[in-house]
Amino acid sequence: MRLSDKVAIITGAGAGIGAATAELFVNEGARVVVADYNADAVEEVVAKLGSNAVGCKVDVRDSTEVKAMVDLAVSKFGGLDIIVNNAGRGCLGTVETIQEDDWDEIIAVNLKGVYLCSKHAVPAIRARGGGSIVNTASNIVQFAIKDRAAYVAAKGGVAALTRAMALDHSVDNIRVNSVAPGVIWSNYYNKMLTQVPDPDAFVNGLKARAPMGRYGEPLDIANAILYLACDESRFATGSMLTVDGGAAAW
Ligand SMILES: NC(=O)c1ccc[n+]([C@@H]2O[C@H](COP(=O)([O-])OP(=O)(O)OC[C@H]3O[C@@H](n4cnc5c(N)ncnc54)[C@H](O)[C@@H]3O)[C@@H](O)[C@H]2O)c1
Repeated sequence: MRLSDKVAIITGAGAGIGAATAELFVNEGARVVVADYNADAVEEVVAKLGSNAVGCKVDVRDSTEVKAMVDLAVSKFGGLDIIVNNAGRGCLGTVETIQEDDWDEIIAVNLKGVYLCSKHAVPAIRARGGGSIVNTASNIVQFAIKDRAAYVAAKGGVAALTRAMALDHSVDNIRVNSVAPGVIWSNYYNKMLTQVPDPDAFVNGLKARAPMGRYGEPLDIANAILYLACDESRFATGSMLTVDGGAAAW
């Protein structure tokens, strides 16, 4: 049990990587706040995980809701040791084609959300004598992909913010690291499959992005997040753990 007696918040835990992380954390002994702005998804995940999980409908862009999420962890489970800032989403567009509203939205969910959640979580984690923050970045911050200007910029910001937070909060005994997934099958790709003209070619294209010739599963990233969250990574802070089948090594 790597997370016995630990309390964790996981944002974006209604689906994909966040849901897999919530399940893994509970299996490793943690009590978990399953946080997502999709209330139905939260209910489903919590029903599966039982009494060591509590649901929280939260929009990570909203400071008041985020503070209430942290307060819930403290009132329900007695404190907070870990936050996984995982909520995020992508959007197509170059700087020329993306609409200003979409730009603001992508930066708000992926980057401002990490700031707000960390802002409210740090005092609670400090009060426990320290802990761990894990941010979900992306392997694309090490290169780029076409037609995703806002998303690439936002995730680059997450990687840089992770290093800044690591410097600021080592004094509080709070380690801050990020995980950088490659292509991980998720609802996003399920939706894309219904929209692309040739689904087989689309899937083969995704697989071809990595030297390993396949995409990953949410559990592949959950395992990396677990490592960064638990004491096995006790000397790691300010780092980014890439889990992408070798894609960033091309
Ligand atoms: N799947 C991939 O290939 C991939 C690759 C690199 C990085 N990532 C990152 O991993 C993280 C998880 O992605 P996933 O693939 O599991 O996606 P997903 O769509 O399956 O899950 C994301 C969850 O975040 C929630 N969410 C979105 N906006 C929110 C908001 N404002 N407030 C609260 N919750 C919100 C959604 O409701 C959803 O449940 C994201 O940050 C994503 O950018 C994913």
